[in-house]
Amino acid sequence: MTVNPKAGDRRKPDHAIERIFTDRWSPRAMSGEPLTDAELLRLFEAARWAPSSYNEQPWRFLYAKRAAAHWEAFFNLLLPANQAWCRNAGALALVVSKRTFSQNGKPNGVHVFDAGSAWQNLALQGSQMGLVVHAMAGFDWDKARPALAVPEDFSVCAMIAIGRPGSESVLPEEMRKMETPSPRKPVREFAFEGKFPAR
Ligand SMILES: Cc1cc2nc3c(=O)[nH]c(=O)nc-3n(C[C@H](O)[C@H](O)[C@H](O)COP(=O)(O)O)c2cc1C
Repeated sequence: MTVNPKAGDRRKPDHAIERIFTDRWSPRAMSGEPLTDAELLRLFEAARWAPSSYNEQPWRFLYAKRAAAHWEAFFNLLLPANQAWCRNAGALALVVSKRTFSQNGKPNGVHVFDAGSAWQNLALQGSQMGLVVHAMAGFDWDKARPALAVPEDFSVCAMIAIGRPGSESVLPEEMRKMETPSPRKPVREFAFEGKFPAR
């Protein structure tokens, strides 16, 4: 049994926006089926078209396919709470970002901002393809760099689980009730005309 991972039916925006934004969410239930290379390439293609300062494109995605050569190395980085549901992922990825501009070696103060745009492109594309795409900070950040040979001039940003949607029954019980699209703060709590409001 699979579930439809699109959440737009259960999320009502306060102002009119495209469904692509409310459809994307972060389920944990995945089927354990593998992903094809063609699917993964489509996801990375979406990431490719993200904007970046000076078009530096500082993002890099290191990935492992389920049951393939690098799977264990990626899976072992995850904290136990994330391993509990990521065991059914079709792929795991580490997002890393280049700290300096390639043209002149100067620090790029917005490289993580740009890598965030790339991840979001990938997540939106995956959601539209009916896949689960779920970012994670819950992994061993110290081990990630040596385990995956991330060079010093790159920052480790986040990990991502990607997979086909699956039944909630595959999840540990405490995670089943979390398997629902989350709400958001209203726009007026984070968008201000003029200066930052007094606190
Ligand atoms: C950078 C980042 C790190 C996250 N880390 C985790 C994590 O370690 N484990 C987890 O289950 N979810 C994690 N999440 C998922 C968030 O909890 C989720 O995106 C947030 O609650 C909003 O819900 P939605 O994505 O379903 O809209 C993370 C999301 C982001 C963007």
